[in-house]
Amino acid sequence: MTKVLVVYGSRHGATEGIAQRIGEVLRAQGLAAPVVSADVVADEDVRDADAFVVGSAVYMGRWLKQPTEFLENYPSSLRASPVWLFSSGPLPGSTASKEPSDPLADALGPKAGPGSGGRMKIDELAASIGARDHRVFLGRYDPDEPPRSFPERIVRMLPISKGVLPHGDFRNWPDIDAWASEIAAEIAAPAAPV
Ligand SMILES: Cc1cc2nc3c(=O)[nH]c(=O)nc-3n(C[C@H](O)[C@H](O)[C@H](O)COP(=O)(O)O)c2cc1C
Repeated sequence: MTKVLVVYGSRHGATEGIAQRIGEVLRAQGLAAPVVSADVVADEDVRDADAFVVGSAVYMGRWLKQPTEFLENYPSSLRASPVWLFSSGPLPGSTASKEPSDPLADALGPKAGPGSGGRMKIDELAASIGARDHRVFLGRYDPDEPPRSFPERIVRMLPISKGVLPHGDFRNWPDIDAWASEIAAEIAAPAAPV
């Protein structure tokens, strides 16, 4: 059975929920799809996977450390297999841009110039492993949950964060389901003749 390893990095559970949902959709389409936190993913998990979905929560324009390191640590396995990336990030109205959105810019910042470090890092890794797609999904923010990192604590204390971080669960399950179904369909599709 074709195995798609779904790896995620999550601080407050929203991204884990998206990863679990992707796994459910893939399994419903007849694939094996274990869902593993990037903190604990093991070499054996990677070795027998035929494809990968890797996602991270975005904080301060950056992926979390563990899913980033996952992309860095398995370059040959990832290059040799289809890989799809997702970011769990923007909260509606929380981005500076009021233009029709560029989802990657909304989550990770511009492609180049000031504030582009987090975006460039993932763009470079995506290019180096030949990722097929990088999708951005709206996230979740619950101000009553205690912060889990020092920078997060600081940001939450800033008066400006009260206005720019909308509270709520904005994860769009139909979008997530549709993307997971697209992945399943691509995996099922016969390879194009060369
Ligand atoms: C302090 C703070 C900073 C954030 N920075 C970003 C950001 O730069 N870009 C983004 O798209 N989302 C940002 N978010 C939104 C979260 O990443 C989003 O809600 C995500 O779904 C959380 O995932 P998790 O519950 O798996 O940690 C931020 C949230 C907080 C609380």
